Amino acid sequence: PKVRPSQSRTRETTVILVTGANGQLGRRIVQHLIAREPSLLDGRLGVSVRDPAQATELASRGVIVRKADFDQPDAMATAFAGVRRLVLVSTDGPGAERSARHRRAINAALSAGVSHILYTSLLGADADRPTEPAAAHRETESALQHCGVAHTVLRNPLYADDLPRLAEPALAQGVWRLPAGDGRVSLVSRDELAQAIAAAALAPRLDKRVYELTGQAALSYADIAARIARVSGRPLTYEAVSAEAYSGSLEARGTPARLVATLVELLTSVATSRLATTCNDFAALVGHPPKSLDCLIHEYFAPRSPA
Ligand SMILES: NC(=O)c1ccc[n+]([C@@H]2O[C@H](COP(=O)([O-])OP(=O)(O)OC[C@H]3O[C@@H](n4cnc5c(N)ncnc54)[C@H](OP(=O)(O)O)[C@@H]3O)[C@@H](O)[C@H]2O)c1
Repeated sequence: PKVRPSQSRTRETTVILVTGANGQLGRRIVQHLIAREPSLLDGRLGVSVRDPAQATELASRGVIVRKADFDQPDAMATAFAGVRRLVLVSTDGPGAERSARHRRAINAALSAGVSHILYTSLLGADADRPTEPAAAHRETESALQHCGVAHTVLRNPLYADDLPRLAEPALAQGVWRLPAGDGRVSLVSRDELAQAIAAAALAPRLDKRVYELTGQAALSYADIAARIARVSGRPLTYEAVSAEAYSGSLEARGTPARLVATLVELLTSVATSRLATTCNDFAALVGHPPKSLDCLIHEYFAPRSPA
């Protein structure tokens, strides 16, 4: 097949490569990179994905698509060749698997001579006794600290996008039962997080080693329920339940086992208030703060006027 001129140059000149670009966060990071710096499409923007057939739309726009499965380290050797900045999007799945994968990706980046790694972590990853989801991020952050390559950690809060999926079944009953105790949580949408991560990837200079991409405020689920009720016009109150009761209710609704595990882990982390940080790092990267939770709740829950 004919090689596009930009592709023939990529081994030397790919400036930024985003991993996990077929995933929801990775795809948005790529979109924000292109929106901020369209000239990257001149062979200087790459992605790695497990299945290139799902990335044909990116390839047709001029994004260099490489195949990399972090579970197959031998085949990763060339994926990061010529890359200067690597945006390593954390993978999903059980914690131990994830941290081993991320270590393999960091090693492949080292072998390829990547000069800067940006890693998408989770708020609370630095806690002494990290919760299950935070443990894999803590291990990856530690691997980065010891790898000898310049790196930036971008700690994400919980995705606000999950609110409708979490709250919709509860709105039918008027009671929202979650294993989040009285913990508070800071929420930002995936799209805005991707915007901040893209800004960091393009920044000529990064002042900090760790950025915490938090919302403007941290609220309890009781507060969030009250706001959803006000905006949707439907009654909703919050009730704290045990992790067991919550997983039982998700299983009864046919939720896939892996999603049950992820939701239980993340929501029980909220009870520790380790996901409640708020700071100005998002604005430092993007130039303005993320949308307020009231604004997001309005987007997700305000009744739609008939078309
Ligand atoms: N902050 C939060 O609320 C929150 C919630 C859930 C998860 N997360 C974390 O944030 C990450 C990104 O979120 P998301 O919404 O984009 O999740 P997602 O859509 O499920 O994407 C997960 C990504 O992990 C990649 N991946 C999985 N196994 C891999 C492997 N062996 N080698 C290479 N890549 C692999 C997937 O690649 P393919 O596209 O090739 O399948 C996919 O791109 C998640 O993976 C998870 O670590 C955060």
